[in-house]
Amino acid sequence: MNASPTPDRYALVGFPVHHSRSPLIHGLFARQTGQNLSYELIEADPASFETAVRGFGAAGGKGLNVTVPHKEAAFRLAQRTGPEAKVAGAANTLTFDGGIRADNTDGVGFLRDLTVNLGAVIESRRVLVLGAGGAARGILPPLLESRPRELVVANRTLARAAELRERFQALGELRIVTFAELAGAGAFDLVVNATSAGLRGETPPFPAEIVGRETFCYDLAYGRGDTPFVAWARRAGAERAVQGLGMLVEQAAESFLIWRGVRPETAPVIRQLSRDLGT
Ligand code: ATR
Repeated sequence: MNASPTPDRYALVGFPVHHSRSPLIHGLFARQTGQNLSYELIEADPASFETAVRGFGAAGGKGLNVTVPHKEAAFRLAQRTGPEAKVAGAANTLTFDGGIRADNTDGVGFLRDLTVNLGAVIESRRVLVLGAGGAARGILPPLLESRPRELVVANRTLARAAELRERFQALGELRIVTFAELAGAGAFDLVVNATSAGLRGETPPFPAEIVGRETFCYDLAYGRGDTPFVAWARRAGAERAVQGLGMLVEQAAESFLIWRGVRPETAPVIRQLSRDLGT
């Protein structure tokens, strides 16, 4: 229990952030673990990101979560980095401890939701990741470390996928393709959507054949009701298509652990969020 009368300050910085559920999640974690903290939203565009981060630290802030589009900038700003942030070259968690430390909890949060909460298997399976941006960066290392039979990254811009293949080559083999080149690839065991197209209500031209009845479809994005990718996956025939609410809560729990030294229980928070969002 934190005896200090003034709550320790945390926040999420991103662009945009106004629809974020992170204040609710960290508020529930704080209540559950008896921690005295506040959690705010800070909207900062790329030009004002560094000023926002340094200003928050100078004002006594203890830590920040970082979201789109600042995860790579957050990594570059830090003096010290955890191993996952270093591998990804991107950070979603900053801690002010005299300097700035960067961590990345997206990968572990993703893996935990997928394999522990949802029971999906990666080892020896055919896995496809759609997208090669900041979100893909965080999840490719744990996917590679889970030893899939095959890991394919499909992206609209092939050069970005090539960058990731080079970045992660020590961890394992990545095959890179365009969406059109997925035709003929057949159904995968696991398809993860890491594109941000859904944020604009779009579904890119993924060939329907990448999904079969047994394919587990996971959208890193979340929203009220079905996300565009989840709706697409169902139409394509997948019986299991889920959005990334569980990952959101799990990565938050890992950030909370880094900041507060205690890992909150995630299951009741995931249940509450699912109810709120009608999923
Ligand atoms: P994030 O950090 O959320 O991953 P990002 O770095 O902007 O965001 O990356 C967005 C990803 O979504 C990229 O893979 C992007 O494809 P490009 O690399 O070709 O830009 C993908 N994306 C976004 N909108 C898309 C669309 N309408 N169709 C296909 N891919 C899209």
